[in-house]
Amino acid sequence: MALLAAFFLLGCAKRDLDGDMQPAVATQRFDGTMPVPGAVAADHVLASEAGASVLRAGGNAVDAAIAAALASGVVQPSGSGLGGGGFALVVPAEGEPNVLDFREVAPAAASIDAYATAGASTRGGLAVAVPSEGIGLAELHRMYGRATLATIAGPAIRLAEEGFPTGEHLARSLEESPDMRALFLAGNRRPGLAEALRAWVDSGGEAFRGGWVAEDMVHAARAQGGLVTLDDIKNYKVKLRKPLLGRYAGRTVLTMPPPSSGGIALLQVLGSAGPGASLHCEVEATKHAMADRAAFGGDPDFAAIDVPGLLDPRYLATIAADCGPQTFPPEHYAPSPPPADDHGTLHISAIDAEGVAVALTTTINTSFGSHVIAGRSGIVLNNQMDDFATRFGVPNAFGLVQGAQNAVAPGKRPLSSMTPTIVLGADGEPEIAVGASGGPFIITATTAVLRAILDDGAAASDAVSRSRWHHQWMPNAAIVEADFAAGDTLRAAGHDVRTIEKPFSSVQVVVSRRGDFDAASDPRKGGAPAFSR
Ligand code: GLY
Repeated sequence: MALLAAFFLLGCAKRDLDGDMQPAVATQRFDGTMPVPGAVAADHVLASEAGASVLRAGGNAVDAAIAAALASGVVQPSGSGLGGGGFALVVPAEGEPNVLDFREVAPAAASIDAYATAGASTRGGLAVAVPSEGIGLAELHRMYGRATLATIAGPAIRLAEEGFPTGEHLARSLEESPDMRALFLAGNRRPGLAEALRAWVDSGGEAFRGGWVAEDMVHAARAQGGLVTLDDIKNYKVKLRKPLLGRYAGRTVLTMPPPSSGGIALLQVLGSAGPGASLHCEVEATKHAMADRAAFGGDPDFAAIDVPGLLDPRYLATIAADCGPQTFPPEHYAPSPPPADDHGTLHISAIDAEGVAVALTTTINTSFGSHVIAGRSGIVLNNQMDDFATRFGVPNAFGLVQGAQNAVAPGKRPLSSMTPTIVLGADGEPEIAVGASGGPFIITATTAVLRAILDDGAAASDAVSRSRWHHQWMPNAAIVEADFAAGDTLRAAGHDVRTIEKPFSSVQVVVSRRGDFDAASDPRKGGAPAFSR
């Protein structure tokens, strides 16, 4: 714990992390007048390509990630977009890493009583939390961007105006939600969204706080019984947070603090089931982490969360020691009992040759969010209210049972699983940017890909393609993909192993080593990375 506390106090300046750090490999500096080598991995090739084109225009990895996020909202609107929110972990070329938290918050008029009815937090106006993506991406650019907003939004505007081919993931999502076909004119053109993107450029994001775009979103939500007001959007604040920090395999792992549970869980599993741990013990560590998530997870501005305690090496050692030959029933993992398939999230990883790295996860929560569409812009509004514990003891859309710390309250951020993560190599430079979509599956998928790269030396494409397992403590079952080979190993240790046919998580990763970029987008969503040269 002392070691971790020291890390937290030190802050995270890249070159402060390792006393024995060697000078970084010679790094060429780019000033916006020449293409920046780099790689972008989003879960749609057109989004990755939007990001790479901004690098070619002299932008940095932050510009590229924003361009990819905006383009994703056009071509993959079931999974993200300007009606949602997100987190961005940034390692800049100089200075300290930061997390921009632009997660949606509960409207000022929200109370837990409004969500007593099943479905209130998943569909329709009540499900909509304050949309904050446009505000957050503008702030991310203001802090770290170099290219103009017009350059960054250019690819997304073109895609919205001219249309694009229907990707495999979008086709699947529309089969499940035929009502959402209304988003597209012939050829998948989305002129209203192009207009909103132009407004984002012209106003520096302000149209999403007080202009017509904000009014359009509020009107749509309220027309369907929603609680969001223009004042909620005007009062919205992006929060700057310090990343959590841990050590693994001789590297420094920077990851997402609360209001996400993802970073804590990732570091708990890496810290209690390190390289060489058996699959069963890794699942056991995950069950502990997920039980802690349910008991302690929430918005740190509303509830005290003992992050140093949850990451204390002595606590992690007790988790490691608890792994016996057989798994235990759920109550074994819960320090105190809590009182009570994702398609709506998207992750983008980008690293450039200047040493800027971004892990950006954005979400409207589940597929097509609340299914409420802003009339003029065609922006799909989130159903992030379902990430709160709206009905204690009742699982949410992801089957998660959550605790009182995550109860609905005005202005509060719902607990997330999003785990944008950046690993710094021994030289202190960004080596891996990684993260995923998939609700709670984000945590296990991000951990699995990191381990494949760091423990096994896997290439990026191998790491994201490997078959995966998941456990979230409740339900008490190990969920495995159809081609997962080690199901019998888990059965032998007493786990209830259930196979799911559908892909359940999607990881995007960029690895940068001495000027070489290796990147991969998860085949489960059919994406592909893009390189700037
Ligand atoms: N809405 C998915 C998450 O934040 O975990």
